[in-house]
Amino acid sequence: MTERQPLIAGNWKMHKTLAEARTLARAIRQGAAAGRWAEVALAPPYTALAAVAEELAGSEIRLAAQDTFWEKQGAYTGAISPLMLKDVGCHYVIVGHSERRQFFGETNHTVNQKIKATLAVGLSVILCVGETKDEREGGLTILRVAEQLQEGLAGLTAAPEQLVIAYEPVWAIGTGLTATPDQAQEVHAFIRAELTRLLGVGAPYRIQYGGSVTPDNAAILLGQPDIDGALVGGASLKPELFLPIIAAAG
Ligand code: PGA
Repeated sequence: MTERQPLIAGNWKMHKTLAEARTLARAIRQGAAAGRWAEVALAPPYTALAAVAEELAGSEIRLAAQDTFWEKQGAYTGAISPLMLKDVGCHYVIVGHSERRQFFGETNHTVNQKIKATLAVGLSVILCVGETKDEREGGLTILRVAEQLQEGLAGLTAAPEQLVIAYEPVWAIGTGLTATPDQAQEVHAFIRAELTRLLGVGAPYRIQYGGSVTPDNAAILLGQPDIDGALVGGASLKPELFLPIIAAAG
């Protein structure tokens, strides 16, 4: 990969009934320009994965899951395995989203187990990292992100097409606050250097920005040298907001 293909991913979180999910997926499929440069992925809730897979069949839009468990199968009530996600047609699995860390006890160790299990079945990972407001104000941003990368990626190798990093400052998620392009670029450049240190090479890996991305700020964020796409929450639920973000990526 000489030039990194931007990845615009929509994280629908806990939104959309089956009918709503089909309608949204269809609108994005129809509205995303053919011949675009950016790769697009949609991450509906588990309940809508099969329906959205049907809507996306035959298109280049990828299906993504919002989380997974690390075992293949077994007595793990409520859990979904990477194998099941592969079976339903996923290409990506989001791992370590800050809401999983905040509300569901996700740690760097469980993130690491989930990444290994996901890669083992041949799916690709979007690993989310990012600092809280207190950490940023305390000058701990780089330290926190370094720790999440080191522990999250411990003991594994992944080709550039199998691993995407999403830098999502927690204080920017769903708040309407966005990291400035300079703030984001600074952390993205650090992440790339850290990937080089941990995986031997950093240049080919894609690093998305996430946190209140909108059509208004997408172009300037995506224009930064180390920002290779966006992980979009709120604005991914509305085609009139998500489609211009895809267009901004080229
Ligand atoms: P947001 O969410 O775009 O609503 O801030 C981003 C995310 O959590 O991935």
